[in-house]
Amino acid sequence: MKTSNTSLDSGAQQQARSVLGGRLSSPVTESVDQLYEHYFPPVPAYEGLPSELHAFVHTDTESRRKQLNELRGNHQEYGRFLHSCLGEIYTNIFGYHDGPSASVPDDDLEVAMFSARIQLEREVLTHWLPFPDVPRFENQETAADYLDELADTNAGVHHPLFDYLATDAPRENLDMFLRGETIRNEIVDDEVALLTVGLQGTQKAVVAANLWDECGRGKLENFHTFWLRRLIEASPGGWEGFADYRSSHPWFAKITSNTNAMLLTRPAYVQQAYGCFLIFESWVAPHFRKILAAMDRLHIHDDDIRIYFAAHVAVDPRHAEELADGLRFQRPRMTPEEIHKVVQGAHLAAEAGRIQYDHWLSFFTGQPLYKGKDSSV
Ligand SMILES: [Fe+2]
Ligand SMILES: [Fe+2]
Repeated sequence: MKTSNTSLDSGAQQQARSVLGGRLSSPVTESVDQLYEHYFPPVPAYEGLPSELHAFVHTDTESRRKQLNELRGNHQEYGRFLHSCLGEIYTNIFGYHDGPSASVPDDDLEVAMFSARIQLEREVLTHWLPFPDVPRFENQETAADYLDELADTNAGVHHPLFDYLATDAPRENLDMFLRGETIRNEIVDDEVALLTVGLQGTQKAVVAANLWDECGRGKLENFHTFWLRRLIEASPGGWEGFADYRSSHPWFAKITSNTNAMLLTRPAYVQQAYGCFLIFESWVAPHFRKILAAMDRLHIHDDDIRIYFAAHVAVDPRHAEELADGLRFQRPRMTPEEIHKVVQGAHLAAEAGRIQYDHWLSFFTGQPLYKGKDSSV
């Protein structure tokens, strides 16, 4: 064993200098200051649980089980109920003012919501969207190669919804979809922060680096959510228009966020959450290229509207590659069971995305739900 040495080695020296540099005190422009005046995420303050969730939360386990059992026969209503309720419940995890105990704890309500949430999640994973059967890999290198391939070929990445947006969608449908994307992405930095919990080694470093990017590497105007602030400010109706839209946001637009939140907040699903996030990051660039093509077609040249999408086309292929490398080069080495969980999460994400995009496409075109090529739902 080496004796301790009080002089810093080069590894420790690395951290003697702040990664923030002079950023904390460097002045921001007036327009940056002005955009930071808005509460973010731009959610309404809590005003009570929706009545159906209130009833579900405050009833006993057996009554909940019966209710879910009955809903299974009505596929659309079943999905709507599960995802509307979970979406409301998850707001309370993130600490923003749309949650019932964001400023004052409410022990009884939080316990009841937690138990309702576990029951809803079990329902999702048992009946609505179970973990699919996936190939097994003995080592993390072959699993990483497999996930690189899955990222290019899954049913969500080349979904026809994005061709529709690029070539056919009228402006109002594009605007609606952009607002949906804003809602889906408004707390990604917190989702990435949650993903760091329970990981170690290379995987943790990769996710922490991703979080540092989400936080603009310390520059307020480069926070990814700042690009969303610019998008909201420049969109029809501005912040008020966005608030109006939120109340009619379709339930199916929450499928991927809910899937992610479910995996991120359950201790047993840490590795599934990593695989899920890998897939979500990998399809950002192909999807956003189609959205930018839609903007070209509709003569939307405003940088404030385009920046979120253009920036992610540049950044997210690297994030996806790094997440695959985080698996490939993970130390300590992963067990086959841990590797299996990452692959499971990746497939679950692909399927959640496919279902969500099927619903959007059907909603916009009035056609029956599109079934992707490896459709099972
Ligand atoms: Fe981002
Ligand atoms: Fe990213």
